[in-house]
Amino acid sequence: MNIVVVSPEKFGNTAADIVQRVTENTEAPNITFPTGDSPLPLYRELVNRYQHGKLSLANVQAFGLDEWGELEPGHPIRCISRMKTQLYSETDIPVEQIYYLEPNTDDLDVHCEAYDKRIADMGGLTLSILGIGINGHIGFNEPGSKATVRTRKIQLADRTLNVSQKYGFDKTPSWGVTLGLATLLESKEILILATGAHKAEIVHLTVNGPETSDVPSSLMRRHPNCTLLLDEAAAQLLKK
Ligand code: PGA
Repeated sequence: MNIVVVSPEKFGNTAADIVQRVTENTEAPNITFPTGDSPLPLYRELVNRYQHGKLSLANVQAFGLDEWGELEPGHPIRCISRMKTQLYSETDIPVEQIYYLEPNTDDLDVHCEAYDKRIADMGGLTLSILGIGINGHIGFNEPGSKATVRTRKIQLADRTLNVSQKYGFDKTPSWGVTLGLATLLESKEILILATGAHKAEIVHLTVNGPETSDVPSSLMRRHPNCTLLLDEAAAQLLKK
């Protein structure tokens, strides 16, 4: 794992440099985009670069990382709704190049399998952008998820449900769908983002703890091209 620690002011820029390098060096990059607080500085910077004519995302094939169950299509808390507001609608990613998981599907297993197959048929993921949950989840791959799991429906962990109160759910969904760790680990490159002192403990466990499915983020260490981008607060428990 390549660990990069920057000030909060430089966080968005550093992450955007990585995304821009991938988009400029790949004909049609397949990129996963997460929601949450961690990627917001990145999305603000990508939008800023696009608005100033310094960046185009027109060649990007965008894949949603995960989605809440039990919310109707178009619900503003849905991950796809927030991705549209925070990035997709603010840049030049063509609508037909945006893919996402749809939990309200008759046969969700078939839908999840088709999502993985689409990614595989398109040559696999070029860049997986990920956050880390306070419990080490990656996407909604909650503790207990093995490195071999594919895209699927999953019961959400209590800690995830507690943290997700910040989104203002009327009733918090008990399950979600997520890209599987195996598909993410097959990505050519991984960029994990974590900010803030509340992430310091899980960042420490991710880097220095045992590589275990109890902490799914620790499984990312086996990837040969994985960058963990931290601000100083999130990095405070790491050795110098
Ligand atoms: P956060 O969420 O960026 O809002 O902390 C990360 C995650 O749960 O994966």
